[in-house]
Amino acid sequence: MADTESKIHGEWSSRFAFILAATGSAVGLGNIWKFPYITGENGGGAFVIVYLLCVVVIGIPIMMAETMIGRRGRQSPVNAMKTLAKEASADSRWQYLGWLGVIAGMIILSYYSVIAGWALAYVLKAISGTFMDGSAQQIGGLFDSFVKDPGSQVFWHTTFMILTMLVVVRGVQDGLEKAVRFLMPSLFVLLILLVGYAMNTDAYDQGLSFMFNPDFSKITGNSVLTAMGHAFFTLSLGMGAIMVYGSYLPKNVSITKTAFMVAGADTVVALLAGIAIFPLVFANGLEPSTGPGLIFQTLPIAFGQMTGGVIFGTLFFVLLVFAAFSSSISLIEPAVAWMVENKGYSRLKCCVFLGSLVWLVGLGTVLSFNEWADITILGKNIFELLDFLTANLMLPIGGLLIAVFAGWVMKRQHSQDELQLNNKGLYYCWIVSVRYVSPIAVFLVFMHVIGIL
Ligand code: PFF
Repeated sequence: MADTESKIHGEWSSRFAFILAATGSAVGLGNIWKFPYITGENGGGAFVIVYLLCVVVIGIPIMMAETMIGRRGRQSPVNAMKTLAKEASADSRWQYLGWLGVIAGMIILSYYSVIAGWALAYVLKAISGTFMDGSAQQIGGLFDSFVKDPGSQVFWHTTFMILTMLVVVRGVQDGLEKAVRFLMPSLFVLLILLVGYAMNTDAYDQGLSFMFNPDFSKITGNSVLTAMGHAFFTLSLGMGAIMVYGSYLPKNVSITKTAFMVAGADTVVALLAGIAIFPLVFANGLEPSTGPGLIFQTLPIAFGQMTGGVIFGTLFFVLLVFAAFSSSISLIEPAVAWMVENKGYSRLKCCVFLGSLVWLVGLGTVLSFNEWADITILGKNIFELLDFLTANLMLPIGGLLIAVFAGWVMKRQHSQDELQLNNKGLYYCWIVSVRYVSPIAVFLVFMHVIGIL
């Protein structure tokens, strides 16, 4: 079984390739676009601490669990769950967990592609020098009028979806691996440069203290839910993306080491993005809680003022697009892998079908910033609703079930075999987290939010 499946989809060429691809999936708009704005909306330091706690206590153990299930199951999440449930003589309905992931991934991609489209549009703005010497007001106005225009957003959303599907069509090694090999290191370097710029603004200390001085009075049940949901979102957990990448992972690779490396890199990128952005927010008298437009309204101010701003600005948005790209391919891969396995269609056919579906749903997000801005459910517009539904509900629920499956359903012998943790203490920490800590934490947060506690 294992061999036939890896022939259908291929396999990573090395451990390094897997780390790159998993980091590529983890590091994306979540780190650079979403983390700063939700930190701003949720009051800063205390939110960051809850998020970091969730990454360490829940995120890393679940990342290990997902990779392990993928590698042992050797197929798309739906079929991997089916196979492993059978192996453990458990209920075959566990496969629905795979389904939850497939659907969550497609919904996330629908709005992810719209935001990535903004980044694409900003590449052109940067190249043409639009940001040069712009004041905070002008740059803010530029963004506002951009999102008010559905036509251009649809154009960029379409472009991004086509580019994504072109990579996904080419499959594991040819498409996914090549796409991420050079992008991650370059993005990292550019972020450091932006941090350097932020350090020279008067508001550097203010920015840092906003991010790292916790004021726990600003924490509400909802912000804990957002922080936890974001830990799943940013690490690409709870929906089978890491599982499907794990299924292409050669047997001899240490799952634990790779999980720590991927989560570490992801966290560093998010923190660097925050450190680059908040000083600019305060230096220009802006509000940290402006929402999804935050990076588009702050970073261009810096590019407009620095020497070589046209080059750096262009490079930054190009890299942001690539970071989004290496995540978006992992958002749709579980669906594509499932369709190729079960329907026997070619990768191309599956990509055209699934890509079009996602594109269509994305139009709802485009319109939620303009024509349909007034349409709200539970006080949220379509974009906010899809984001809440996926990041704050579907991913944590998926993660909780993955933890329960890995901790309670799979035989200990099997998880030990896969994780190959010679150090007994480490295995113990892992099993305690997936059996108790993660499921209970997710459950308590949900209970708190729905007001039962
Ligand atoms: N981790 C990605 C980011 O931070 O942008 C988003 C993401 C990718 C979420 C893949 C979930 C996923 F399965």
